[in-house]
Amino acid sequence: MKVDVIGARGMLGTDLLFVLGNAGIDVKGYDLPELDITSDGGGLEEIGQCDWVVNCAAYTDVDGAETNFEKAYNVNRDGARRVAERCRKTGACLMYISTDYVFDGQNRVAYREDATVNPVNVYGKSKLAGEKEIQSAGVKHLIVRTQSLFGLNGKNFVKAIMDRLAKNDGPLNVVNDQISSPTYTMHLADAILRLLKKSKQGIINASASGECSWFEFACAITARIKPTVTVVPVSTSEYIRPAVRPAFSVLDKSLYESWTGSSMPLWQDGLREYLERI
Ligand SMILES: NC(=O)c1ccc[n+]([C@@H]2O[C@H](COP(=O)([O-])OP(=O)(O)OC[C@H]3O[C@@H](n4cnc5c(N)ncnc54)[C@H](OP(=O)(O)O)[C@@H]3O)[C@@H](O)[C@H]2O)c1
Repeated sequence: MKVDVIGARGMLGTDLLFVLGNAGIDVKGYDLPELDITSDGGGLEEIGQCDWVVNCAAYTDVDGAETNFEKAYNVNRDGARRVAERCRKTGACLMYISTDYVFDGQNRVAYREDATVNPVNVYGKSKLAGEKEIQSAGVKHLIVRTQSLFGLNGKNFVKAIMDRLAKNDGPLNVVNDQISSPTYTMHLADAILRLLKKSKQGIINASASGECSWFEFACAITARIKPTVTVVPVSTSEYIRPAVRPAFSVLDKSLYESWTGSSMPLWQDGLREYLERI
């Protein structure tokens, strides 16, 4: 199987290239500056002579998107459309990596793929717009919704907590009323490999098994790195950020399990493997 990965030097893209290469897939990676999906002359003609294009490229600064919405839409919607058009031309199947932030977080049970979407921030709206572009582009596609990624090659919550612990022994305030499933990018890359081999189309959820609040996640990180530090639960209302986050965005993985015959690893296993790797 031949696969082109866009956004290949990002947090997920780096691990995906590694996992696909290790599995004997003929994989090529593309990223800025040699490929710019926001520009018609940006190198898109280099991609798509393959079975699958995996689009991991995105504007991922959730808070930044609130003021930089033009850039968010440029990459996450218009860039996604350009990639889809290219795939339609070459006949390649397209996998678009999307997000739990297409949901408003009002559910109390895990979101299935067909749950009602209602993004509450610009990033989520721009990613949903990207999904819609792909669905209407007449290209064979699979949209993979994932969430709360952490990996070696990018900014993420685990790194932020570790940086904080390295600098300071004081108590750590972390929000306790936002629930998700923090997902290790190596585990997501394994899941993507399984999905590519299944060659299915539509929308699929893929994120860690289990769920926790950011507070619980921070406690698990701190327990391994510096157990003497106290983690204090706070509410979102005490920790105002530019972008609103869904309060509950756990994704239902039943469809993934029935397609692949396997379960996603638990977030605790992702954290352990990540910390062992660094
Ligand atoms: N991180 C999360 O928690 C999370 C959660 C749910 C879903 N996702 C989705 O998962 C995917 C991967 O996320 P990630 O965290 O790995 O993101 P990331 O680390 O920010 O990687 C995205 C990559 O895309 C590149 N890129 C940006 N604009 C581009 C353009 N115009 N043309 C080509 N490449 C461009 C970035 O380059 P620069 O770094 O130079 O800008 C970066 O290398 C994204 O689709 C994201 O929306 C992420």
